[in-house]
Amino acid sequence: MKVVVIVPTYNERSNIGPLVEALDQQFATLAHDMHILVVDDNSPDGTAAEVRALQTRFPRLHLIEGRKAGLGAAYVRGMNHAMDALGADVVFEMDADFSHRPEDLPRLMAEIDRGADFVIGSRYVKGGSIPANWGLMRRLNSLGGNIVARYVAGIYRVRDCTAGFRAIRCAVLRGIDFSRLRVQGYAFQVALLHAAVTNGARVVEIPVDFIDRTRGESKLGFADIMEFVWNAWWIRLQSSRVFIKFALVGLSGVAVNLGAFAAFLALGMNKFVASPLAIEVSIVSNFLLNNYWTFRWRKTRDRVRVKGLKFNVVSLVALGVSFSTFAAVSSLYPALPPWVPQLAGIPPAMLVNYFLNSYWTFRH
Ligand code: GDD
Repeated sequence: MKVVVIVPTYNERSNIGPLVEALDQQFATLAHDMHILVVDDNSPDGTAAEVRALQTRFPRLHLIEGRKAGLGAAYVRGMNHAMDALGADVVFEMDADFSHRPEDLPRLMAEIDRGADFVIGSRYVKGGSIPANWGLMRRLNSLGGNIVARYVAGIYRVRDCTAGFRAIRCAVLRGIDFSRLRVQGYAFQVALLHAAVTNGARVVEIPVDFIDRTRGESKLGFADIMEFVWNAWWIRLQSSRVFIKFALVGLSGVAVNLGAFAAFLALGMNKFVASPLAIEVSIVSNFLLNNYWTFRWRKTRDRVRVKGLKFNVVSLVALGVSFSTFAAVSSLYPALPPWVPQLAGIPPAMLVNYFLNSYWTFRH
């Protein structure tokens, strides 16, 4: 089999030489025709020039260059090149910065040899790990990303949906229309995995230790995080009629919430009383619509009485979330008109409402 390890690079001059050397050592242990494809986006630090210099020593090292458009865009170019120009049967995704250990490559390859279509070097299955020195924010980011991917995008079975160390059969990639993934950055990892799972790919996760880079810096930016969250909801929207109904109910809830709030204020009520009351009114109307429309078809485990009880608990939690947001925004920005903090409380409450109701109250 022809195997191409795709390594996207942006300012990785100091890493790329040692990585190519380390990969070449691993290739010697494998029976396949192993190649490396560096996808560089005109790195200002001269990564491409370094690769060209290395090519004289490593004939199976390839390079394509392009405009910087994000990690996902680089992978799409790399995968197309690996399949069309290099004739790959299998491609690897791998960071240039030694976050993924070259020594793990043969273990991923072994799973492909055993028949898997999509092998993930996973930090979140038994035996895998994230760096011990990761701070709380980085841990929460990684964990949150996976929760969003699993429960919003619906890739329930996979523990590490955001991993960037993976081996994929090109037969799987050929069944995917990259242009329909609509992502440019790190969200690509989830978009591609979701498309592969939807197409029935045999996904296997094997444990790996993720190592913190010692040279250079991460390129993950705020725009990538926004695209990641948006992409997960987009996948959800596309693949779930339930969610479309839930979102419509949610929209009606916004109108009910604001309408009730305006009515309570007009009646002379204090805004801190009017806010939770208006939220409660909208949660009740949301529940009724969801119960008798959105989830009506679902063969739920619980009887109506139990569902009703759970609904009350979920309402309280969502009320708490919304009111805390309202109170926090109100006290941080006291000059704002009251409807702004009221509006700010709606999205987090809606999310909590959806997840608890979908996965608890109305569970199968
Ligand atoms: N060509 C190109 N273009 N390469 C890029 C770009 C880009 O716009 N952005 C990042 N890269 C390259 C980096 O040079 C590196 O080789 C690799 O992609 C990963 O980038 P990092 O910036 O080091 O990623 P990270 O450590 O934050 O994220 C890693 O872990 C995530 C999970 O925690 C990656 O493996 C992600 O794919 C993964 O989701």
